[in-house]
Amino acid sequence: MRQWLRSHAARLRNCTVRGLFATDPERCQRYAREFGGILLDFSRQRLDDAAFAALLDLAGHAGLRERIHALLDGAIVNDSEGRAALHTLLRMPGSAAVTGSLAPLHAEVVAVRARLAAFVRAVHEGTRQSASGERFTDVVNVGIGGSDLGPAMAVEALRPFHTGHVRCHFVSNVDGLQLADLAAGLDPARTLVIVCSKTFTTQETLANARRARAWIAGRLGEAAVPAHFAAVSTNTLAMDQFGVGADARFAMWDWVGGRYSVWSAVGLALELAIGTANFEAFLAGARQVDLHFRRAPWRENLPVLMGLLAVWNRNGLGCTSHAVLPYHQRLARLPAYLQQLEMESLGKSVTRTGQPVDADTGAVIWGEPASNAQHSFFQLLHQGTADVSMDFLLPLNGAADRDADELVIGNCLAQLQALLAGHEAEDPQRRHPGSRPATLLAFARLDPAMLGRLIALYEHKVFVESVLWDINPFDQWGVELGKRLCGPMLEALNPAASADAGPEESRALLAWIRRCRQDTGVAAAGSGPTEGMS
Ligand code: F6P
Repeated sequence: MRQWLRSHAARLRNCTVRGLFATDPERCQRYAREFGGILLDFSRQRLDDAAFAALLDLAGHAGLRERIHALLDGAIVNDSEGRAALHTLLRMPGSAAVTGSLAPLHAEVVAVRARLAAFVRAVHEGTRQSASGERFTDVVNVGIGGSDLGPAMAVEALRPFHTGHVRCHFVSNVDGLQLADLAAGLDPARTLVIVCSKTFTTQETLANARRARAWIAGRLGEAAVPAHFAAVSTNTLAMDQFGVGADARFAMWDWVGGRYSVWSAVGLALELAIGTANFEAFLAGARQVDLHFRRAPWRENLPVLMGLLAVWNRNGLGCTSHAVLPYHQRLARLPAYLQQLEMESLGKSVTRTGQPVDADTGAVIWGEPASNAQHSFFQLLHQGTADVSMDFLLPLNGAADRDADELVIGNCLAQLQALLAGHEAEDPQRRHPGSRPATLLAFARLDPAMLGRLIALYEHKVFVESVLWDINPFDQWGVELGKRLCGPMLEALNPAASADAGPEESRALLAWIRRCRQDTGVAAAGSGPTEGMS
C-alpha cells in the first residue's frame, strides 16, 4: 500500500496546491461535497484525480464495502475481544424495523432510553428530589476516558440548548482536585452525582466516586447516599454495592466501546443538560450519517472521503500529526474528545490477525479553538518543518453576535488561504511555502443534530482508516499494561516498603520519592479521601 500511494505522493510533492487550482478551474466544486448541511471542502489537499482514484482502489482492495456492512449489521468486528461494535444501534429510533439477532439488543436500548427520559423528566420537574426534598440544581459526572470526554465535550458544545434546570460538571482526574474545587462551590443537598463507568472497575473513577460519596455522606448523612447517586455501567452488582438504587442504575453493554458510548446512558449528563428532545435530535443527527455511510457512493460519502484523506496524508505525504481546529469556543473540548476516539482506536501496530502492519497507522491528534491557536501554534503550521494535516471546523453562525460571526469566518478563510497559497518573499524569514493539507468542514450552526452528525462522521472516518490498515479500532490493549503496573507501584510507595520493592529500574526513584514524601510530611497529611472537601 505504501508503495502505491508513495508513487502518487512523489509526483504531487513537486506540485503546489495553487498549481493544481490553476490547471483545474473547477477544483473548488469537484473537491467539495455537501451532506446534512455540512460542506466538506478538500480542494486544499495535495491531491489530484489520479491519487484520488488510487485511494478509492485501495478502499476496494481492502474490502471496505463488506467491512462497513459487517460493522453496521452487528458482525464481530472487534476481533481481539470477540464482539460487535454496535454504537450505531444506540442511535436507531424506537420505530426502526430491526430484525434478527439485533432485535433484542435494540429493544434493550429502547427500554433504557425510556428510563433515561423518565429520570431526566423527574429531575427537571423536581419529582426526583434530594434527600432533603429539594430540587437538584447541579449534576457531577464522575468518569474518565469515554465515560467523561463525550458528555463533557457535548455539554459545552451545546450550551445554548441547555434547559437551565441543572448545571453539569465533570470530574475525571485521579488527583481529586476537580472534585475538591467543585465541592467548595456546590451545595451537596442539591447535587446529584452520576458515576459513569462501563466496567465500574476503573481506578480513577472509583477513587473519585468514593470521594464524592464521602462528601455527600459526610455532609448529609449516610442515608442520603441513594437519593444523590445515579450510575451507568455494564456492572450491575458493582453499582448495587456502591449504594446506587435500582431506579437510578442505567445499563450499557459490552458491545459499546467507551469512546463510542456518548449515545448510550453515558450521555445522561448531556441529556440532563439539554433535555430529552434535544438528546434525541443529537441521536438522529448521528443516525443520518450512519445511513449515509451505508448507502452513499464512496465519492460522495463524507466519512469515507475523510478516512481516505487521512490515509493519504499519513501514508502518502507522511504527516505524523493531525490538528483539529474548531473556529468556535464551544468546541474547545472537541480535540480532546477526538484524541481518544482516534488515538485509542488507531494507535495500533499489528493487524487484526496479529501481523505487523505494512503502513504507518494513526496520527497524533491535537488542537485548540483556532482563534486562540492562531496566536500560539499556527506559526509552526505556516512555516515549520513538521508535516501536519488539518481539519478546520467552521460554524457560520453561533458567535456572540453577527459581527463576531464575520470575524470568525474571515479569520478562518484567511488562514486557509495562507496555508494554501503561501507567500513568496525575497527574505526567507518571511517566505511561506503554502500547500499545507487542510480540509474545511463548514456548517450553518452547531445544534444537537449537527453535533451528532459531526461526531458520527469522525467515528466512521476512524473505521475507514482502520479497514485500510487492517487494524482493530475497537480494542485498547495498550492502556492495560500501565494499569496493571500501578498496583505494585502503589505498594512500593508505602513508607514501610523495603528497598527492593518495585521494579528494579524504578527502585532508586522510588526510594527518592519515599524519602522526599516523608521529609515534607506529605504522606501523613494527604491520606484522607475527602481531604480539603469539607
Ligand atoms: O483506559 C482506557 C479506558 O478503558 C477507555 O477505553 C475507557 O473509555 C476508559 O478507560 C474508562 O473506562 P470505564 O468506562 O470502564 O471506567
